[in-house]
Amino acid sequence: MPDLLQIGGVTDVMRERLEAAFTIHKLADGTYPAEAITHIATNGHDGVPADVMSALPNLKMISCYGVGYDAVDVVAAKARGIVVTHTPNVLNGEVATTAVMLMMACYRELLHDDAWVRSGNWEAKGNAPLTRSVDNQTVGILGLGRIGQAIADKLAPFGTTIVYHSRTQKDVAYKYYADLKEMAANVDCLICITPGGPATNKIVNKDVMDALGPKGTLINVSRGSVVDEAAMIAALQEKRLGWAGLDVFEAEPKVPQALRDLPNVVLLPHVGSATVETRAAMGALTVDNLLQHLSDGSTVSPVPECTDM
Ligand code: NAP
Ligand code: 8YV
Repeated sequence: MPDLLQIGGVTDVMRERLEAAFTIHKLADGTYPAEAITHIATNGHDGVPADVMSALPNLKMISCYGVGYDAVDVVAAKARGIVVTHTPNVLNGEVATTAVMLMMACYRELLHDDAWVRSGNWEAKGNAPLTRSVDNQTVGILGLGRIGQAIADKLAPFGTTIVYHSRTQKDVAYKYYADLKEMAANVDCLICITPGGPATNKIVNKDVMDALGPKGTLINVSRGSVVDEAAMIAALQEKRLGWAGLDVFEAEPKVPQALRDLPNVVLLPHVGSATVETRAAMGALTVDNLLQHLSDGSTVSPVPECTDM
């Protein structure tokens, strides 16, 4: 059987299917037969470390469990004829739900009000303070791709006006802003859902957050690198930015204490797609890609850079 290097974890169902087709070696075990490895199964967090990719002379394919593949050096892979695949579409709805959930938790002060009940404040001090309505808001989507569109769809019943920024204008009815700062100045809530990597590094900077302003809410379900985290913490501390709902961070799983101490944030441990149902679909597609490549050299869902391979 061909040899596969497993980076990070896999579900039981994935392991069963993979074991039927490959001899599996785990990077975490420390040793693997470098010459023999032809396939890698990894995920969006771990990617493929550069020293590992260069140590595998016969690597043919990398299958990523996740749609974001900024942790894999696709240029280096493609230059060596290694095809990279990912798991688009099957997680659109789930990640969109996470974004909407974070937005609602910020607006309706979910964590504050939960604590109000648990602490006995309700009985001791009376009703919790009023919160803000999620209805009829203008929401700016940074990155109107597959998941961005799903977020727009999920917000429609709330009477939301959707506007968006991306590099290119899409064939949609929503207002397009070519300038991110200008969009931030004209929305109540900014939701980030672009890929990570150098092109989007810290594009949500101090100026963008100041434009969003003290009544503004920032939601990030993209990658931690997309937002200037230090500038965001300062803006939240100084109330130049109102609220933030965050699923992703610059140095996951490390989250700065200053951010954890803030009352005007809702923090999640990168669980945008992390439900049993959606992870099963992502796992199935991750393995389908590997098995199809084994059988005829093609793949189901190559990353855009590898569609011509
Ligand atoms: P997608 O369909 O490729 O959409 C990405 C969007 O971002 C496109 O509209 C693209 O439009 C825009 N974009 C790309 N580069 C940009 C730039 N430099 N400036 C402005 N806009 C830019 O991808 P998707 O499937 O929706 O996934 C998006 C990302 O979400 C993933 O790459 C991943 O990082 C993140 N994600 C996070 C979680 C989580 O658990 N939190 C789960 C899944 C995905 P243009 O090309 O026209 O700019
Ligand atoms: C996962 C993600 O957390 O798909 C992505 O880009 O960020 C998430 O769905 C991750 O990739 C799984 O390891």
